[in-house]
Amino acid sequence: VAPVQIGILGGTGPAGSALAARLASVGHEVIIGSRSKYRAMEVVDKLHEQWKSRDLQIVAGDNPGAAAAEVVVIATPWDGAYGVATSVAELLDGKVVICMANALTRIGKEFQPLVPPRGSVAASVQAAVPSCQVAAGFHHVPAKELGDLSHPIESDVLICSDYPRATEVTSAIASSVPNLRPLDAGGLSQATPIESFTAVLLQLNVHYKTRVAVKFTGIADFDGPADAPVGAGAGRENPADEGE
Ligand SMILES: NC(=O)c1ccc[n+]([C@@H]2O[C@H](COP(=O)([O-])OP(=O)(O)OC[C@H]3O[C@@H](n4cnc5c(N)ncnc54)[C@H](OP(=O)(O)O)[C@@H]3O)[C@@H](O)[C@H]2O)c1
Repeated sequence: VAPVQIGILGGTGPAGSALAARLASVGHEVIIGSRSKYRAMEVVDKLHEQWKSRDLQIVAGDNPGAAAAEVVVIATPWDGAYGVATSVAELLDGKVVICMANALTRIGKEFQPLVPPRGSVAASVQAAVPSCQVAAGFHHVPAKELGDLSHPIESDVLICSDYPRATEVTSAIASSVPNLRPLDAGGLSQATPIESFTAVLLQLNVHYKTRVAVKFTGIADFDGPADAPVGAGAGRENPADEGE
């Protein structure tokens, strides 16, 4: 997979910074975005310090700086995703936007899924910025393992989108990490169960005092998707034209 420039909105949290480190470790160029560029700089400095033996191409930016990248990831809490996407809407025009946010709450010892407007965080982002191509993905990959570059991470990555190009680009990025297997889970309506299933995984983590990842049996090994064009507007499809 050719290196891609990837901007991460809310990239200062455990999920975004772990994804940044892992994607940079396989050659992608990553911009960690934040509402505060200084917070992003602190996180980037920590990553460079932690992995100083590696030449990680990670730089700090504000969220608009990250949104200017070729491919954009949303790694904010669920209730921040809509607002942050809207705030950089013009920069997302025609781009693949990967939404990894899960709408969850914890009540006592139990994780419970929430149902955001339009059924999922990803669908609410797609509605907020109709000119971009949202793919939901990376919801179930635990941040700690994802960010630990001294160990491989093994997981399936369920991806869904109404745009084939968004699924292809997200799959290509996932498959650039050894042992991550992208799986095409269908249209964006599947983001509802994909996001809410995260509550089950977190519950398993609590019960078994571990961090689980998902791996499906019964799908034959395959070489992964061909490289997909990532530039804004490349191969743009209109799902309305596909006449399901
Ligand atoms: N943790 C995991 O293992 C994991 C794995 C897969 C997916 N996820 C999902 O990935 C997302 C991020 O997880 P996380 O644990 O990294 O979350 P987090 O630490 O709570 O938030 C990530 C970043 O989002 C920004 N942010 C917070 N509230 C915001 C708001 N209202 N508007 C805009 N930006 C806001 C903050 O960055 P600034 O203050 O610097 O702007 C924060 O550092 C979540 O939706 C989570 O469900 C998490």
